[in-house]
Amino acid sequence: MSTKKDLRIGIIGTGFMGRTHSNGYSQVSHFFPELQYKPVLKAVCSRNPEKVQAFADQWGYESIETDWKALIARDDIDAVDICTPNDSHAEIAIAAAEAGKMVLCEKPLARTVAEAQQMVDAIDKAGVANTVWYNYRRLPAVTLAKQIIDSGKLGKIFHYRANFLQDWTISADVPQGGTGTWRMDVEAAGSGVTGDLLAHCIDTAMWLNGSITDVSAVTETFVKERMHAVTGKVQPVGIDDACIFHCHFENGSLGLFESTRYARGHKALYTFEINGEHASIRWDLHDLNRLEYFDHRDEGIVRGWRSIHVTDGDQPYMNKWWVPGLGIGYEHSFIHQVADFLKSLETGEPCSPTFQDALETQKVCEAVLESAASRSWKETGIGATVSQEA
Ligand SMILES: NC(=O)c1ccc[n+]([C@@H]2O[C@H](COP(=O)([O-])OP(=O)(O)OC[C@H]3O[C@@H](n4cnc5c(N)ncnc54)[C@H](O)[C@@H]3O)[C@@H](O)[C@H]2O)c1
Repeated sequence: MSTKKDLRIGIIGTGFMGRTHSNGYSQVSHFFPELQYKPVLKAVCSRNPEKVQAFADQWGYESIETDWKALIARDDIDAVDICTPNDSHAEIAIAAAEAGKMVLCEKPLARTVAEAQQMVDAIDKAGVANTVWYNYRRLPAVTLAKQIIDSGKLGKIFHYRANFLQDWTISADVPQGGTGTWRMDVEAAGSGVTGDLLAHCIDTAMWLNGSITDVSAVTETFVKERMHAVTGKVQPVGIDDACIFHCHFENGSLGLFESTRYARGHKALYTFEINGEHASIRWDLHDLNRLEYFDHRDEGIVRGWRSIHVTDGDQPYMNKWWVPGLGIGYEHSFIHQVADFLKSLETGEPCSPTFQDALETQKVCEAVLESAASRSWKETGIGATVSQEA
């Protein structure tokens, strides 16, 4: 007889993230046996009854719902996991919090700061456990970057640089809206690459390097009109196809960020590099188990970029997996986030990034879009603004 406490999950959305999260819940107890809580796949919700039943059968959910309100109303659900497009995050999260459920929400938290603020208010009022799936933080090499920075090895940080590059929307025939292409519709997504891709870069950046205080951005929409998959009409495109911004961090360093869906040849190239007084680090999602590190203090004859294969037992999360030298994958970041969420229920500590943390990322995203629209610098409203005086 198991002594573990059940955490009864109700998940909404059966697409890409529905799968990664379901895998996380399914795997976590096998690899983190010390955790007191054990996820139970209680219910899955999506609007098409045949498809949601097939998903339930595939992943082992006990029951299905086709209306998320019915899922939230159930007494046998402890935690609601939101894996739906961005336009539904606020309504579902607020209703779930009001029903006293824990809430795990996909990123970006919302379409706008106003929506995100209402979500934070609802979570605070209900006092429920919460987290937002900025999962890249929990890849071992990225977590190791955090440990290296926090140890002070880099010294004063001067530069933070990040890219997130894709190429899937170059064709003008890609529609906007609808099931598979909601990301192209500003109503559903809130923004283009800024909320979809740069939000990840901003979350990681502020976790590693502190608050972003002000931004100057340029955005472009290369294809101005696209057919809407639902209405069948050719309509103006409201999202940003590409965005480049530079910024100040509260610690005085400069940031440079670029994201686009028009970088032919790149499918999901997320990279960052941080340059400090003594040392630099860089990371690349396409080689996600590796962290590169350069330390100027190394003896001259062996000084150079070290390529750290982050697979040893004393490196983050890796004592949970196979044997030293064997890598893990993208899906493990979600398993790790589930593990950390379950741990947070034991300790009572928040599981970052919380809704509050994700609100800060939302503020940066909104400042970026406002800066691009007004062709001017915008303060994010977070952190203390760095003096621009010489
Ligand atoms: N953390 C990450 O790296 C990451 C990666 C991809 C997507 N996301 C985020 O996850 C969310 C979902 O993205 P996705 O790629 O899984 O999308 P998707 O299109 O693959 O899946 C969306 C799912 O939501 C369902 N859905 C839509 N409206 C619904 C409603 N009203 N009620 C019930 N179900 C509904 C759809 O049927 C579908 O199953 C988005 O917010 C996205 O930004 C995060």
